[in-house]
Amino acid sequence: MQRFKIFFVLALLMVAHYAMAANDSSIIPRPQSVEKRKGEFTILTTTKITHYTSLRPLAQYLGQYLPLEIREYNAPTTGDIALVENKNLSPEAYVLDISGEGITIEGGSQAGVLYGVETLLQLLPSSVYGGGLALPTMVGACRVEDAPRFEYRGFMLDLSRTWMEVDEIKLFIERLAHHKINKLHLHLSDDEGWRVEILSHPELTKIGGYRGVDSPVAARYGRWDEHYGGYLTQDDVRELVEFASLRNIEIIPEIDLPGHSHNLARVKPEVLCRYTPDVSASDGYDMRSVLCVAKEENYALLEDIVRELAELFPSPYIHIGGDEVSTSQWSRCPDCKALMEREGMKDVGELQDYFTARMERIVAKYGKRTGVWNEAARSGSIDPTSLVYGWESAKACREVLDKGYTTVVMPGEYFYFDMRQSKREEGHDWAAIFDVRKTIGFSFEDFTLEQMSRVAGVQASFFSEAYISRREYDYDFLYYQTYPRICALSEVAWRGEGAQWEEFNARLLGAHYSRMEAMGIDYRMMPPEVDYIDGVLSAKSEGNALIYYTEVGSEGEKLYTAPIATDSPQRFAFRVRRAGAHSPEAAVAAHWRMLQPKFKITSSIAESERYTYAGAERYGRIARTARVGKEGDWILYTFEEAVKCRRMEIYTGNLQLPRYIFNAGYMEVSYDGVKFERVCELENGGGVIDNPRRAIKAVRIVCSESGNGANFVTVQAPKIYPVL
Ligand code: ACM
Ligand code: ZN
Repeated sequence: MQRFKIFFVLALLMVAHYAMAANDSSIIPRPQSVEKRKGEFTILTTTKITHYTSLRPLAQYLGQYLPLEIREYNAPTTGDIALVENKNLSPEAYVLDISGEGITIEGGSQAGVLYGVETLLQLLPSSVYGGGLALPTMVGACRVEDAPRFEYRGFMLDLSRTWMEVDEIKLFIERLAHHKINKLHLHLSDDEGWRVEILSHPELTKIGGYRGVDSPVAARYGRWDEHYGGYLTQDDVRELVEFASLRNIEIIPEIDLPGHSHNLARVKPEVLCRYTPDVSASDGYDMRSVLCVAKEENYALLEDIVRELAELFPSPYIHIGGDEVSTSQWSRCPDCKALMEREGMKDVGELQDYFTARMERIVAKYGKRTGVWNEAARSGSIDPTSLVYGWESAKACREVLDKGYTTVVMPGEYFYFDMRQSKREEGHDWAAIFDVRKTIGFSFEDFTLEQMSRVAGVQASFFSEAYISRREYDYDFLYYQTYPRICALSEVAWRGEGAQWEEFNARLLGAHYSRMEAMGIDYRMMPPEVDYIDGVLSAKSEGNALIYYTEVGSEGEKLYTAPIATDSPQRFAFRVRRAGAHSPEAAVAAHWRMLQPKFKITSSIAESERYTYAGAERYGRIARTARVGKEGDWILYTFEEAVKCRRMEIYTGNLQLPRYIFNAGYMEVSYDGVKFERVCELENGGGVIDNPRRAIKAVRIVCSESGNGANFVTVQAPKIYPVL
């Protein structure tokens, strides 16, 4: 009996061990089931990719990574990698079977086979992604059975604020496919740019595809001195749709209406409500951004647009926006007011429902259904077949689910990857400051079964205002912000739940970082852990990644090889680097200390009544002027006592974005409050004084360019870094 018990416990332990061995593979997203088997298959240079006739494009896709001979599949052969369609599986499900004889990937459709291929790629050495896999290579025998929990696994790119070239969009799509994402939502219009060619209205892109300099569309983010932009021609769209389709990615176009339409209104001012706005604060520039709901001509224009979009994009959905619509312009419009009266509306907000209903009819006429942001569904009166995108919060998602709408769950605090990842990194913070750990921790536990029955899936977004506003403008920031958060999105969308951070991170560190490196993704790493104990400063990284450090007052970055004995730990900052990836800086708390000396703001421009200069003087909230800056305007910061520091930064504009700024000008410093000397030209609305030779008594910034499509200037408190 005793012996039997021991045997039983041993058997249990073995089963547990076996399950762990299967689970500890590093596949992202984790498959539903992985059964490890004895033996392995060796891929030789003579191994072939064989395929059903219909799967030829997929065989070629795999051939890009594994350059093997490709043959149509007639009868089962051994020693091959066979791609097989099996209608008994659901469309996106697959079975990947690896034995000593060969590899078979069966999928319910081309999509399922693709996902089997993606899983196979993850089982190979990561060099496969860079096309550099050396053959022969061995892959362990196993059987993977897998299918996604959600039919909708999406990502949204905002092409309006920051334009992306077609080849860059393709690269982004390729990388999404490696993560089994199957929808790409393209935010094609917003206040700052119109990005899809409409043949019946070429001015939408010819004019609205560009902003700044001589464009009627003012530059509102970064790139101030450039005629900035670009757009997708209809040929580009067809090319992208085909490229994405092979990778099982459906492209869903969004035209953001009736708000977020400033760009459209600059190109076609006739779409606006019928009243004369007060443009004195904005130097004559009409900043309105909401379409008039009462104008029949607007619906004719929108029908032209929808007709062309419906033909271009095979997706069953056209997303018509509906977020953040201010009703104040409708309230002032005689036509909108007359419409309300005719329709018996009590509240101006009902005009949005009217607009949505009109758009639904147009979209339906061309055989499509509407996608809308969650605000548009709040009244519960929109078409029940609409697809609702719940972005504001998980609670907002549940509210629209309770109204019966199929919903894509994407609360910003988990899935807006334009949010910064820690306090001192770049990006927005209005939804939350979070990194991959938060996204992987997403849970549907507060959703009822009934709500879950209407969850279409999960999506993440990258709104790109902060991207275009960066001084160093390149694609690195996009990838730094989105990976590895997209890896977590992939897990949540495929599995229907997050994962324990330690387990997920082990997969990242174990293999996925290497895969991303081979894919060419410069992802964001976790910062090193920094300790200061008994006069010794030390730093530790995950996975023993190399750590580099900088020291205040000394040039460049050095490799960290051993703890540093110092009585000034605050002078050092550390970061991890691996291939093109890196972490944010980490340091002891004192490194980040800032000074907040008393100061006074005066200006040639009156202050806003609500956002007074006193708010900024308290290092509290940001202040505003009462109008836009004109040539010769100035803002003066005078310190009660001269400030000794190593660096002082003064910026106009919002905290995370150079918006509402002096878009050109210069900065002057004074050490006595009387004599001023020029230190720099303004860049992104501000300037920096490094290592001032004396204590600073005052700083003045002077505007040299009138008007910028804004109606005020945001005034921030200075950022002052102490001498360390
Ligand atoms: C949104 O973030 N306004 C959809
Ligand atoms: Zn109107």
